[in-house]
Amino acid sequence: MSFIGTDEHVFIAGMTGSGKSVTAEHYLAGYDHVIKLDTKDEVSERRRKNKPLWKGLQEGKDYVVITRLAELDHIETHKVIYVPDIDEQSLEHYNALFKWVYERQNTILWIDELMSVADNPSRYPPYLKALYTRGRSRDAVVWALTQRPMDIPTIVMANSTHFFIYNLNMPQDREKVAKATGYPEFYDLPGKYVFWYLNITAAVPPVRGQLDL
Ligand SMILES: Nc1ncnc2c1ncn2[C@@H]1O[C@H](COP(=O)(O)OP(=O)(O)OP(=O)(O)O)[C@@H](O)[C@H]1O
Ligand SMILES: [Mg+2]
Repeated sequence: MSFIGTDEHVFIAGMTGSGKSVTAEHYLAGYDHVIKLDTKDEVSERRRKNKPLWKGLQEGKDYVVITRLAELDHIETHKVIYVPDIDEQSLEHYNALFKWVYERQNTILWIDELMSVADNPSRYPPYLKALYTRGRSRDAVVWALTQRPMDIPTIVMANSTHFFIYNLNMPQDREKVAKATGYPEFYDLPGKYVFWYLNITAAVPPVRGQLDL
């Protein structure tokens, strides 16, 4: 794995349970300012199972959980998990979050399921586009995770430089990644908890990797 800069967009895909969230959690624990958009409310699921919300980090000291965007003005930790309240589960609120990250700069936005904020290849919140097209020079970048590469905006893969691709059971999803990157390796399933890793700027084909948890 090559080093991933704070000025690089990262794309992580795979079917449910393949290891996407665990991967983002693992790597992003080592970065400074990170905000996780948790539309699937993984927080509640983990609390039910008595699992840490962010392995290796401490709630209150390293990160806080918020449910409303207005709380962003008062946070003191460098990391945040945002589980949008019912009233904030709208594209308008997601766009406001993307705008906040864009204007703040020096922040990594972890979108845990891209489909819940942008499920159309050509229509998506304007500040998501701003992050993808102009965020890199501001260190305001996106780590986007998804189960369905087929249905997400084209700008996402076109602007990402690091790819972690776990098992995708739909051939169309694998084809989408293969075509977007130009690497036929993505037609093959890497294996359980195994990902294909690609640094597109290195011009070297994808290699298999696995997190040692
Ligand atoms: N490298 C690994 N080694 C062992 N277990 C793993 C590994 N990666 C993931 N797991 C296990 O698989 C479970 C599911 O992983 P994770 O929540 O990251 O999946 P996901 O791809 O985010 O799924 P979803 O799309 O449903 O959110 C984790 O709770 C973890 O226990
Ligand atoms: Mg997940």
